[in-house]
Formats: sequence, structure tokens, C-alpha cells
Amino acid sequence: MFSSLAVSLLVATLAAAAPGILTIGDSTVTDDAGWGKGFCADTTGLARCINLAVSGTTTVSWQSQPQYSSMLTECKNANTYATIQFGHNDQKVMDTATFASNLESLTNKIKTAGCSPILVTSLCRRTFSGSTLTDILGPYSNQTVAIAKKLDLPVLPLLADCMTYIQKLGKPNAMQFNLDYPNNTDTTHLNAMGSRYFGRMVADEVKKNVPALTGNIVADPVLSAKIAAGTL
Ligand SMILES: *[C@@H]1O[C@H](CO)[C@@H](O)[C@H](O)[C@H]1NC(C)=O
Ligand SMILES: *[C@@H]1O[C@H](CO)[C@@H](O)[C@H](O)[C@H]1NC(C)=O
Repeated sequence: MFSSLAVSLLVATLAAAAPGILTIGDSTVTDDAGWGKGFCADTTGLARCINLAVSGTTTVSWQSQPQYSSMLTECKNANTYATIQFGHNDQKVMDTATFASNLESLTNKIKTAGCSPILVTSLCRRTFSGSTLTDILGPYSNQTVAIAKKLDLPVLPLLADCMTYIQKLGKPNAMQFNLDYPNNTDTTHLNAMGSRYFGRMVADEVKKNVPALTGNIVADPVLSAKIAAGTL
């Protein structure tokens, strides 16, 4: 009698645990130069939204950062999700097959630690050839999609969304997201406005692809409409 009551209470407690989200990845996810801060600002009712991204890291090197240990600790909290976005640095040092196997291994470690992984394809680089947006992350992002499918996990198509938006927006306006705007020597990293826009893009994809978190995303119809229309 007592134990069945205890079990019921435990089940009720677990069911009631507010979800948490960890954002894992490279510089394009960090609070200083990526979309993480903007994304967390679009959430509500979470137990925690913690940015564990580290600049310059790959699927391999991120694992030797202190943020990896934080992930192991935070994933012990019930109902914790982890977005995982790598590719920008991996693309410089490993081929697509190696990236796929490293991403699969890292994702499994995060899952074993207790988190529910959500894979994310890379933020696009705002690099143009004339008026056409160019891309070199596609082959890596396709591996991210393939691993998500293989492991039966949700995947957020950030690269495709970002390319569609930036191409519609055009080069002059796209430069306004640069961390060093108006110098524009760095067309990869994001300033505060970039964090807000691309954080929104990720938030809207979470809402669409992760039903359990739909209630934790605050809507911003005005910004979502601008992104869909290709305007600022
Ligand atoms: C990625 O996958 C898409 C959809 O399958 C395909 O159209 C595209 O050509 C692929 N891109 C690269 C760079 O492999
Ligand atoms: C732009 O470049 C100048 C000259 O190097 C530098 O002083 C300034 O801080 C840069 N601005 C930004 C936003 O990075």
C-alpha cells in the first residue's frame, strides 16, 4: 500500500518535472557569438536553459572541455533535452564519414548521460559570391540529418532555414548580423541581433519538431513572419 503510494508520488513528480534544455555546440551556438542566448530568451517554464557551447570545438574536442562534465551532471536532471550543433570546425579537420561517426558517438554519450538529444544542422555562413549565398557545410549537415534518422532523434534543419532566409534577405542586410558589423571581416559569428533572429529560428523549429517542448516556446509572430518573408 505504502510502496504503491510512493511509486504513484514518484511518477507524479517525474511527470511534473519542468523540462530543461542544454545547448551544445561550437562558437555559432555560444552566448557571445552565436544563437544560444537568443534561443533561451524565447523559452518559458523551463527548469533551466544552459548554454554549454564552446568556441573552436568539434564533435571530438568539445569532449575535453569542462562543459562536457557539466553536461554529464545536468543530464541527470529528469526531462532534460540537449540540442547538439557541430560542423563549422569539424569541416576544417575531418571528412564527412569521420564527422558522422564522431557525431553518433557523442550523441550516444549524451543520451546515456540521461538527456534527450535534438540534433541541429549548422548555422549558415553569410558568405556570398556576387549576390548568391555560398555553402560548404551542406555535406556535413546532411550527415547530421542521417545520424538523427539512424538514431530516431529529432533534427532541426538550421542550415536550410538559414540559407533560405539569408539568400532572400540579400548580402547588405545579412551583414547586419555580423559580430563585427559594420567591418564585416567575420561573416560567421553573430551579434546580439543575430542571436535574436537565429535563436528565434531554432525556437520555431523546436516548436515544430519536439512536441514535448511546444509549450515551452514563447511565440513571436512578428519576428517569425519577418524571417519567413526574408526581411529584417
Ligand atoms: C544534402 O541532402 C539534400 C537532400 O537529400 C540534397 O538535395 C543535397 O544535394 C545534399 N547536399 C550535399 C552538399 O550533399
Ligand atoms: C572595426 O575595426 C576597427 C579597426 O580595426 C576596430 O577598432 C573596431 O573595434 C571594429 N569594430 C567592430 C565592431 O569589431
